[in-house]
Formats: sequence, C-alpha cells, structure tokens
Amino acid sequence: MNERIQRERINPVNGVSRRDFVKFFLAGSALSVYSLNKLNAAVYQSITSLNQKYIQDESPDGIYWDAIEKHFLFQDGVIMMNNGTVGPMPQPVFNTLIKCFKLQCTNPFEVYAFIPRKKEEVRSRLAKFINASPEEIVITRNTTEGLNFVANGLDLEEGDEVLLSSMEHPGGTHPWKLKEKRFGIKIREVPIGLPPKNVDEIVDAFQKAITPRTKVISISHTVYISGLITPLKELSEMAHEKGVLVLADSAHGIGMLNLDMKKLGIDFFATSPYKWLGAPTGVGLLYVKKEVQDKLWPTIVSSGWDTHQDARRYETLGQRADALTIALGEAIDFQNAIGKERIERRIKALAGYLKRELKKIPGVRLHTSENPYLSGGLTAFSIEGIEPAQLVNYVREKYNIVVRTIGRKEDKTYGVRVSTHIYISYKHIDMLIEGIRHLVHHRS
Ligand SMILES: Cc1ncc(COP(=O)(O)O)c(C=O)c1O
Repeated sequence: MNERIQRERINPVNGVSRRDFVKFFLAGSALSVYSLNKLNAAVYQSITSLNQKYIQDESPDGIYWDAIEKHFLFQDGVIMMNNGTVGPMPQPVFNTLIKCFKLQCTNPFEVYAFIPRKKEEVRSRLAKFINASPEEIVITRNTTEGLNFVANGLDLEEGDEVLLSSMEHPGGTHPWKLKEKRFGIKIREVPIGLPPKNVDEIVDAFQKAITPRTKVISISHTVYISGLITPLKELSEMAHEKGVLVLADSAHGIGMLNLDMKKLGIDFFATSPYKWLGAPTGVGLLYVKKEVQDKLWPTIVSSGWDTHQDARRYETLGQRADALTIALGEAIDFQNAIGKERIERRIKALAGYLKRELKKIPGVRLHTSENPYLSGGLTAFSIEGIEPAQLVNYVREKYNIVVRTIGRKEDKTYGVRVSTHIYISYKHIDMLIEGIRHLVHHRS
C-alpha cells in the first residue's frame, strides 16, 4: 500500500485502522449501537428540515420550538425551569452516553484504543464552539475543578491581592480562601448591584479596587444568585491595561450564551456543560488562554504535565469517565444543529417576557437586570410578603413547574430563581405567572 494512504487509514494514536474501528463500534452489541446511531441521525435530520422551514423563529412559540422540546427527556411532564442547577439531556446525548458506557462495559480493552482520538475530536469541537484553539481547552469535571486549577496553579506571594465580587458562588470563593490561609494572599470583595445599573458601574467598581498588589480578578460571568451576566469584555480590557489577570466563573455560560473567548478576552474561563448545554453531569471545561499558560502550574499530575506544550498539561488525570466526554461532544453537535446564536436569542426572548410579566405584579422586585447584555436565562426576583419557598412549592404542586429558592436574607438576594431554556414555552411562563398572581392575591 502506498505510504500516504496507509498513514491516513491508520490511527496515529494507536495504530488501529478505520475499518477495524467501524467493525468494533458495530460489533457485539451491534443492534443497539446501530439503532442508537440511527435514532440520533433522525433527530438531526428533523432539526435540519425545521431549520430550512422556520428561519429565525425565536418567538412566539410554534412548531419549531415545540419540536425542539420533544428532543428532551422529561419524566412525568415536569416543566424544568431550574436547569441552572442541573439540566436535562437531549435525546441524542443520552443515546451517545448509553452507547459509550455500553461499549466501555462490554469491551473495556478495545474501547480504549479509540478513546484518545475521540477525546481529541471533542476538544476540537469544544474549541470551535467557544472560538478558542484546541491547545487552550482543558476537559475538567466541572467549574469548581477549573476554578481550583487556576487558584492553585498561579504563583502568588503573601500580600498579593485577588478581587472577587460580592456575588460569588462558593466554588469561586473557597479556592481563594484556601490560598489565603496557606500562602497569605489577600482576598478583597467588590460589591456589585442587585442589579447593577449598567456596564460602567461594574467596571468602575473593580477599577477603583485595583491596587499595585492586585494580581487577579476572579468573577462570575453568570451570577448564580442574581442572573447577572458580567461584562467580561469591558472588564478584561480594563484589567489587562493594569496587568491584572481575569478568571471567569461561567458555570452557566456554555449552552446559554453564544460564547467567544477571543471577544471576551479573558485569561481563564471555567464552565459546567451539564447545566445549559445538555451534557451529562461530571464533565466540564476550563479555557486557559495560550498567552498565560506559562503562568499556570498544573494541579493534578501524571506523565505529560512537563512535556505537553499546551493546555493538555492540565489534564493528566489518569483514567476518566470517558463516556461523559464523548457525550459532551454530542451535546455540542445538538446545539450546533439548532445554532448557538438562535439558542441565545430564544433564551433571552423567554427571559425578557418573564421579566416583563413579573414587573406587572405588585410587590415584585427583580434582582436581574432587564438589559439583555447584562442578563441571560437566569431570572431572580423576590415578592413582598411571599416566602420564596412557598412559591417554589406552590408552582411545583399546582403545575409541576420546577424553580428554586436562591440567595441570602442578609444581603437581600434571597428570592426565587427561574431558568428559561429553549424547551420552555411562553405558555409555561404564563402558568408560572398565574401561580405567582394567585399567591399575591391571597397573601396575608
Ligand atoms: C456561578 C457558579 N459557579 C460555580 C458553580 C459550581 O458548579 P459545579 O458544581 O459544576 O462545579 C455553580 C453551580 O451552580 C455556579 O452557579
């Protein structure tokens, strides 16, 4: 065989031919693997034909979004308005997860011959999805791990400062608290409004807080407590002028927003694709900008940490639950089939409608900005005279709607948080509003 053809047909990682690969994937559990692949192909075919028929149909509801909703798996008709905590998987992701687990269970040796290549494919798809390069992508387990990798891996000295916002998730504060205790760094908290009035209010607050000892701004991109979307682009422009690194906690970002690392300009970005992207729980993503990789040590290591010349050095974790990573690749394909710009528009259209309806109810205080640049699919609010838990329980009992309580009484962030993903309809929001109105009408 001609050498070039041979090179193409043999997997460079493990020397297995493409024909063997296909044979392997169809072997043993042939029927189920084959039928799962066929089911997935049918889903994508249906989305492609819907896309051709319904161009840019963000709102109102209609055939397009009704059809998309049917690709998600919900038990007992539950109306899931809390994917901000953990989201559902679309059918193709579930199918791929099952397929990979099955292959791993039934052919544990041979499956590992293909995993490295499959993982690299997912890395490339992830990179393209967020406009980064594969060399900047670390496949983690979740946001918390990504944030720990950064806090732990930066060389900071006693007295160096890290600025956090007043609205950080524990996953974003504790890695720094540990570093403070071990190494004597200083954490300083910058208050942000509920909601802030505009972009400048946030950027100015951080600018004023920077001192010559400030090394890092560590901030939520998607604030879990208030639904704020932090203006990372403006914040990182300001911070970089002052030589300060920016770490973004974007647990909710991937799958909710049309992300572009180059545009955002941040240095580090951690996210959890199981919330809005439809990936299984247990696989996450950390972006580390190429230009700052020489500043970041790996935290967990095995062979490769000192030889990889890119972000793969942060990922030498030994054997992993690889089926999760492969399913993450499928979650990207599913969102790409719909279009990530379209997804962000739909999510924001739904959240905008929810906010407009909430504002009509006496006693409602929105914790989330109404500016679509400063908000996304998370909407938080409180209502005078109504206990958030009462509302959560009432709408679950009456409509099978899942929302959650969020926040803290002491800083007035305590309230209800609603996630409006693409499978949610205007009709669902109307039901929620009806429930809230009922409670308000009967409040003592
Ligand atoms: C803003 C924010 N950061 C971090 C986390 C932690 O995410 P994970 O448990 O996936 O690490 C969450 C979880 O909800 C969050 O909302």
